[in-house]
Amino acid sequence: MKTAGWMVLGWMWAAAALAAPRPAELCGSCHGADGNGASPQFPRLAGQQAVYMEQQLLLFRDGKRDDKAAHRAALAKLDDAGIRSAAAYFAARAPAANAAAGADPKLVAAGAKLFREGNLAVGTPPCFSCHGDRGEGNATAPRLAGQHAAYLQSQLRVFDVSQRPAAAEMQEIVKTMSEDDIKAVLAYLPGM
Ligand code: HEC
Ligand code: HEC
Repeated sequence: MKTAGWMVLGWMWAAAALAAPRPAELCGSCHGADGNGASPQFPRLAGQQAVYMEQQLLLFRDGKRDDKAAHRAALAKLDDAGIRSAAAYFAARAPAANAAAGADPKLVAAGAKLFREGNLAVGTPPCFSCHGDRGEGNATAPRLAGQHAAYLQSQLRVFDVSQRPAAAEMQEIVKTMSEDDIKAVLAYLPGM
């Protein structure tokens, strides 16, 4: 009897796992099972803000943020609750140090300065004022600390061509930044 009972329970667990595909499997091929993906083309999700991620996933699903259809297959398997729990799963993973941090100490120092102080003379606000003291982000501004430089760079370009309608503030901020400013923050943020 006891054995049969356990078998039924085991079957129920298996069925539940099938009904709700796990984020590590659904998303891990691109982002890494723990959200600390090594490929610089895919953003790291470990420790990223849950509310922010949920919003971005809904924008991808509704075709309002261009992801070149990267999420079409994965999002087809998730309802709203599944999207929320996938975001919660990655938000709860510990961000690992990013080995690809900038190597030039001058650039890293310039990036740190811009992050903390901005460049008020040309209208660049300090990044920390929205993204948090440690670049950890909040419900509206994403975590930047430890993110891959190639991804950050692609997004700083995207703000220019307005593919992220929720990023009105960033579109204005990027216009105030020089090429050197962008190089500096790209050197600083991954190692933050
Ligand atoms: C086929 C590869 C692929 C899969 C699978 C995938 N993603 Fe992504 N994801 C991407 C790419 C590429 C981007 C960057 C899109 C862009 O350029 O704006 C991205 C961006 C994101 C972002 C925005 C990050 C940010 O900092 O703005 C979130 C959140 C995200 N993915 C979550 C997920 C979740 C959760 C899953 C699983 C349900 C998933 N992704 C599955 C490729 C993938
Ligand atoms: C006034 C608030 C504010 C300030 C100041 C600010 N940001 Fe942002 N930033 C945001 C918001 C909000 C988003 C998310 C936009 C969205 O939802 O599409 C964002 C997104 C980003 C992203 C995209 C990250 C991702 O995961 O896709 C990058 C990169 C970024 N900011 C860099 C910076 C840098 C560098 C600075 C300082 C020079 C800065 N930000 C200052 C509000 C701000």
